[in-house]
Amino acid sequence: MTYETLLTETQGRVALIRLNRPKQLNALNDILMDELGAALTGFDADDGIGCIVLTGSDKAFAAGADIAMMAQKTFMEAYRGDFITRNWERIGTVRKPVIAAVAGYALGGGCELAMMCDFIIAADNARFGQPEIKIGIIPGAGGTQRLPRAVGKSKAMDLALTARTMDAAEAERAGLVSRVVPADKLLDEALAAAQVIAGYPLQAVMMVKECVNRAYQAPLSEGLLFERRGFHSLFATHDQKEGMAAFLEKRAPRFEHR
Ligand code: CAA
Repeated sequence: MTYETLLTETQGRVALIRLNRPKQLNALNDILMDELGAALTGFDADDGIGCIVLTGSDKAFAAGADIAMMAQKTFMEAYRGDFITRNWERIGTVRKPVIAAVAGYALGGGCELAMMCDFIIAADNARFGQPEIKIGIIPGAGGTQRLPRAVGKSKAMDLALTARTMDAAEAERAGLVSRVVPADKLLDEALAAAQVIAGYPLQAVMMVKECVNRAYQAPLSEGLLFERRGFHSLFATHDQKEGMAAFLEKRAPRFEHR
């Protein structure tokens, strides 16, 4: 599949999606978000894929929603068209893990897109922020909701109100990113993590993702019950029998993702 604004490839059971509007620092316009939705949907449905990596360029993961696309929009156009939900929420519906590999700018919608992924691996040159206030708007794709959940209220307020950016070290300290790696190792590290995940039983991988996400949506008692039932259901799978037998027989497991 070829796209105008993305480059995609597969490496074994891992899919790599690169945002590719280099002249605009990967600013997110409708074409890109439509194509990203299509690519994610395709890989999610592909039985041969177990994990997806989403990345940008060395300079920018994405510098935000495309300001040129938004500049002339009226309130009524934004409101009636429910602007920004168009395809942006698609990433949240992907059932397989999506790792954001972020180098350079992840600002505004770029930071929001990274936060919609399951975890973020950052290059040491990454910069995160929600600078929408500088252009007279506020975050519109989850920044005021996901950022405080990730870094706490004080830092989220600081970032969204002052429009300052934070570097990778601060983002790691704050819990926004899971690891920071040298910029020239970013893709290798993200792909290696994705290969590890893709090697595990897909049904268990998907169940982990669903259960962790439940922690943000359900009270603790409901989340614990949801987790317990998922845990029980995995005893009905081939890979649980194989994984435990392999451990006891001191050999490598042969998972069949069923
Ligand atoms: N939309 C459209 N074009 C953008 C863009 C954006 N968000 N960000 C950068 N570009 C374009 C620039 O217009 C420029 O194009 P030209 O070469 O044609 O002039 C090109 O990308 C390179 O940008 P700069 O020359 O500005 O590069 P720089 O290295 O000097 O600065 C930057 C980099 C600090 C990221 C700066 O480009 C910048 O501040 N960008 C805007 C960041 C921003 O405000 N993001 C939030 C957008 S609103 C949003 O995302 C809403 C939401 O919640 C969904």
